[in-house]
Amino acid sequence: MREQLLAAEKVKAIDWRDGALYLLDQRLLPFEETWLRYDSAVAVAEAIRTMVVRGAPAIGITAAYGLVLGAQERLAAGGDWKAALEEDFRVLADSRPTAVNLFWALNRMRERLARLKEAENPLVALEAEAVAIHLSDREANLTMAQLGVELIRKHQGNLQTVLTHCNTGALATGGFGTALGVIRAAYLDGLVERVYADETRPWLQGSRLTAWELANEGIPVSLNADSAAAHLMKTKGITWVIVGADRITANGDVANKIGTYQLAVNAMHHGVRFMVVAPSSTIDMTLESGDDIPIEERDGRELLELAGRRMAADVDAVNPVFDVTPADLIDFIVTEKGIVERPDTAKMAQLMCRKRLH
Ligand code: MRU
Repeated sequence: MREQLLAAEKVKAIDWRDGALYLLDQRLLPFEETWLRYDSAVAVAEAIRTMVVRGAPAIGITAAYGLVLGAQERLAAGGDWKAALEEDFRVLADSRPTAVNLFWALNRMRERLARLKEAENPLVALEAEAVAIHLSDREANLTMAQLGVELIRKHQGNLQTVLTHCNTGALATGGFGTALGVIRAAYLDGLVERVYADETRPWLQGSRLTAWELANEGIPVSLNADSAAAHLMKTKGITWVIVGADRITANGDVANKIGTYQLAVNAMHHGVRFMVVAPSSTIDMTLESGDDIPIEERDGRELLELAGRRMAADVDAVNPVFDVTPADLIDFIVTEKGIVERPDTAKMAQLMCRKRLH
């Protein structure tokens, strides 16, 4: 499976080369493949905020590289570079609020900074840490893909019809994807017949990114309006809803792209299994429940306009871009540490004590 996935890999979104960061501009996909070069932490924070790069693991990895760029600048400027770097930690942490991977990655960079030895080259050490964060996310995705496939095979051996939401693929991660990694692997394993991709209003991660990734690989995908999901569950024989996550709390509640919660309610009503796929870097054991998760609200113009053209009456819009699915609507959380069935506080705590499976 690992080799098959590696061979099928076509897309990447983040590239660290010769001391600079390159991001595939996801705002322009699927029409244009433009790579942007970044040399400063402030510019990287702006790229995260404006969604040049998006997806929980991808923004964590990007922030880690952003911090390396910050260190490059601060060291070149001389003086107390570690104190000055605090400003880059702050700017990067302020770029988006919901996905905990961002804060997790910055914490890892902070810990590495604290462990720096006198004789060490700080830039070499910080760059190695950012690369390790990137590579370990790819590895986690490969492990989760395998676990997810085993789960699908165990529960329903025949060809499956799957529905997914947002984009959780190579574009959203360090490679392969979380939910989309499982879907990809299940397709390669002959277990998936068709994928329904929610368009994912208002930013259209489903139509622009997920459909593009799947179509590039020849995986049969049909795009649907978000509001068609319940009808599709009833009429198209959907057996699994498979989604990613931006933050999972200690009780197993899951924050993910707005619209995920209603999918889980509908899945339960229709007897469709609901799988969340996310690396342990998405799990925030410091928060008791989903009520504590900060939910990002973005500019109402994302709803009021389409491609810069006004599409709505002269009213305000409310634009929360994530929601929280309660743990009791979730059948499985798949991580690189293993699978939690019907998550609750005790099971999440047990999971976090385990080692990674790769
Ligand atoms: O606003 P986005 O595009 O960053 O939101 C992304 C999602 O909600 C994804 O489902 C989530 O990050 C999981 S990605 C592996």
